[in-house]
Amino acid sequence: MNLMTPPVSNPVLKDKGLEIVLSDGKPHYFNYYWLRDNCPTSFSSATRERSFDIFHLDAASVAASAEVTGDTLEIVWAGEDHVTRFPLAWLETYGAAGPRPDPADLPREAWYGDHYPDVPRFSQPELMADPATRARWIEALLVEGFTIITDMPDSDAGLTETAELLGKIRPTFFGDYFDVKTHINPTNTAYTAAALELHTDTPAEENAPGVQFLHCRANTVDGGESLYADGVAVANAFRHRDPEGFRLLSETPVPFFCEHDTYDMRSRQTVIELDQHGEVSGLTISQHMLDFLDLDQALLDDYYPAFCRFGKMLQEEQYMMTFLMKAGECMVFDNHRIVHGRAAYTAESGDRYLRGTYVDRAEMRSTYRALVSEGRFKA
Ligand SMILES: [Fe+2]
Repeated sequence: MNLMTPPVSNPVLKDKGLEIVLSDGKPHYFNYYWLRDNCPTSFSSATRERSFDIFHLDAASVAASAEVTGDTLEIVWAGEDHVTRFPLAWLETYGAAGPRPDPADLPREAWYGDHYPDVPRFSQPELMADPATRARWIEALLVEGFTIITDMPDSDAGLTETAELLGKIRPTFFGDYFDVKTHINPTNTAYTAAALELHTDTPAEENAPGVQFLHCRANTVDGGESLYADGVAVANAFRHRDPEGFRLLSETPVPFFCEHDTYDMRSRQTVIELDQHGEVSGLTISQHMLDFLDLDQALLDDYYPAFCRFGKMLQEEQYMMTFLMKAGECMVFDNHRIVHGRAAYTAESGDRYLRGTYVDRAEMRSTYRALVSEGRFKA
């Protein structure tokens, strides 16, 4: 918090708000409704929610008088028996237009094909025991999008308890979790022994799950190497290499589908996803779940070549991290950012069993903020 210097004068009352000089020496305007609604007494210390209901005021919020005493702004309201006291530091922190500071809004660090030795690794029992380790783990997920958890319990419960460290389990139309092994009647390419091209999961959902957990319970087959690439690294390079292609892929929503006997899921997504800063935050891509592109056929003259240029770029060795998962490891990665796939394997050569689940990105950010932030209501 900034050290406060007293304002040079008391607030100037206007029709719809007041103007006050803060420690930067400049006048700042605050709307009366905003000041009344955010009065510290408007919030319950027990629930930490706003207990004041501005809809129940009979008249518009207007200050009858306002003055600064020490480091506090005191407002006496007209037409209401109420006085509001704001610490000036609070007005400085939360009064500026724009979103309030978010500890989970961390800059992303792109990684490349040689990243495997440097992947952040965390031991599962340590994560369970230590909140500070959990905070470092989530920070790595926010910044790099890919982590490995080691020393996983060899049980179904092990995956659930690990995922719940991040937030609530996010079911998909496959249920609360999914098992990746060869199936007799596969409903998904993942359930065969064939190669699986780089993709993000369940793109046909309106909001595809945010964070994917893949717990390796057994892996003794020949082949089946895991392939991962950082969509942020590739899309940022694509932005530089092919600006027009980047524009098409980041601005044009395209249809995805997932269909079988009892479901018919459809969505529209842009292949490249941008965040509120205009930075690449991820990808939605899946060759096996891309629907018939229903764009204007003339637009496809440009879209398809750009899509293929980007798809080929994703496969470039410089971006592709290739390794063999070991039993007892759990890959945890941002499903909107990290594309994943696997090489083909020989089903008869041994066991390969992965169990997966998801947690949403918002849950992850929420848990991280709660772990590292002072919060608005904590002492
Ligand atoms: Fe997948």
